Amino acid sequence: MICALLLSAGGQVQAGEAAALAKAQGIPYPAVIAHRGASFDAPESTAPAYLLARDLGADYLELDLQRSRDGVLVAVHDDNLLRTSDVAQRFPERKGSPVSAFTLAELKSLDAGSWYNQAYPERARPAFVGQKILTLDEVLDIAEGNPAKAPGLYIETKVPNLFPGIEADLQAALQKRGWLDRPGRVVLQSFDRGSLALLHKAIPHVPKVLLLWVGKGSIEPASGQSFAESGEADKAAFYARQQPKSKAEFERWLDYAKAAGAIGTGPSAALSEGGAQSYADLVQPWMNNMTHDKGLLVHVYTVDDPVDFKNVMEAGVDGIFTNRSGELLRYYGRPPSEDEGALLRAHGY
Ligand code: G3P
Ligand code: CA
Repeated sequence: MICALLLSAGGQVQAGEAAALAKAQGIPYPAVIAHRGASFDAPESTAPAYLLARDLGADYLELDLQRSRDGVLVAVHDDNLLRTSDVAQRFPERKGSPVSAFTLAELKSLDAGSWYNQAYPERARPAFVGQKILTLDEVLDIAEGNPAKAPGLYIETKVPNLFPGIEADLQAALQKRGWLDRPGRVVLQSFDRGSLALLHKAIPHVPKVLLLWVGKGSIEPASGQSFAESGEADKAAFYARQQPKSKAEFERWLDYAKAAGAIGTGPSAALSEGGAQSYADLVQPWMNNMTHDKGLLVHVYTVDDPVDFKNVMEAGVDGIFTNRSGELLRYYGRPPSEDEGALLRAHGY
């Protein structure tokens, strides 16, 4: 019904109409989605990253949902804890094990901040040492902790095949906290269309987004090759050359999104400077037009530089996942009241 109302005579959904679609879902337009919190300026998915993103004024705090061995929902991105904690020192015999192999007490015993100081000495802060992995409840507490900002949550079910039933667990957790009452306060996302369909069954009225990329388990590439098969050394250069096999293949995934109950897609972007976050360009104007024509929104991941903000906005996206919420808010003409350093210091970091 919404689709029918939004489609113009020419079949193109214009920016104003995409804004109306977002509004109908309670989603800000264009949306600022703080990817693992303000994770450029603080260790990803920790309290300083989420406090900073909240106080900067991000619309959503983004998190990757996993579950501890004893059944507690936690915010961790990677399949294991090696990159973002001291698990190799604390639990050497299980250092490469998945998050699901650790109890909450074990996860809470890890230092999830020192790795950041070592990786980014120019942005290191002593108070990041010893930061903890957060539970979903703790991220909700942070989101609720500044009523003047009141960001929503943008939650991804990560490696959902490892966590059977996590969709129903999430429903129960959000219901218990009263987070399912306001439209658009929560957006749910997954690369896994099966998990998205389970989320739709468990939590039908919450907007959902199917994440897209070119490769195994998502859009089939024209090259027919994976990065590993290509023998290429530069991942960003490899992905910059990747395209969907055909327009019909791209459209097939839009139809999967709709079939799973999604109101939008989360495609990758090719970034002007390359780097670890640069993937196939799935926000070309024809792609965004096709997505809009199907009544779906486009929230692109993960973009941090003004030159790329401009490129993807001009290509027609409706929101951006970013590690630099402050920069994106400034680009959108919604500058934060204080800068990142001042806000971190105000929280004692
Ligand atoms: O959830 C959007 C974006 O975060 C997807 O990539 O790997 O950072 O979770 P990833
Ligand atoms: Ca994510």
